[in-house]
Amino acid sequence: MISKDLQNALNDQINAELWSAYLYLSMSLDAESKTLNGIARWFFVQWMEEQDHARIFQKYMSERGAKVELKPIATVPKEWKNPLEMFKDALDHEVEVTAMIYDLVKMAASEGDFTTLSRLQWFIDEQVEEEKSAADIVTELERAGKDYSTIRDIDATLGQREYKKAGPLA
Ligand SMILES: [Fe+2]
Repeated sequence: MISKDLQNALNDQINAELWSAYLYLSMSLDAESKTLNGIARWFFVQWMEEQDHARIFQKYMSERGAKVELKPIATVPKEWKNPLEMFKDALDHEVEVTAMIYDLVKMAASEGDFTTLSRLQWFIDEQVEEEKSAADIVTELERAGKDYSTIRDIDATLGQREYKKAGPLA
């Protein structure tokens, strides 16, 4: 059984994952409106991945007999000055998500809920990837500065991103 406290915390995490999805969809739409179609594609894949994250938690809770509660999703920013600002925000956000996952880990550990800990391990590993990919793109964009043709090249590379269903759902 999942404790009431952990059930509440997991429901909050589902909401955070869906908020992340919304944030990345907003970034995708902003990029699309500025004809940065590769960046738009990259964030569109990100939006799908975040929905997978929410789904992993939902499935896990159902399997353990815990009640999933869908809460309202707060509004997200809708415009960014440039791609660098967008990816810096994405990186900051992922660092926050990592901290949230760690808090869940601490709670599950303190309750001796080893099953939840096992599920959270996938998210701990996933966050390493999430932070690294955003940080790498921030570095590339900082290097590009205002050089439009380099930004175009980065945009084209990011547009090659393919969606792959998250491991626990595959
Ligand atoms: Fe996520």
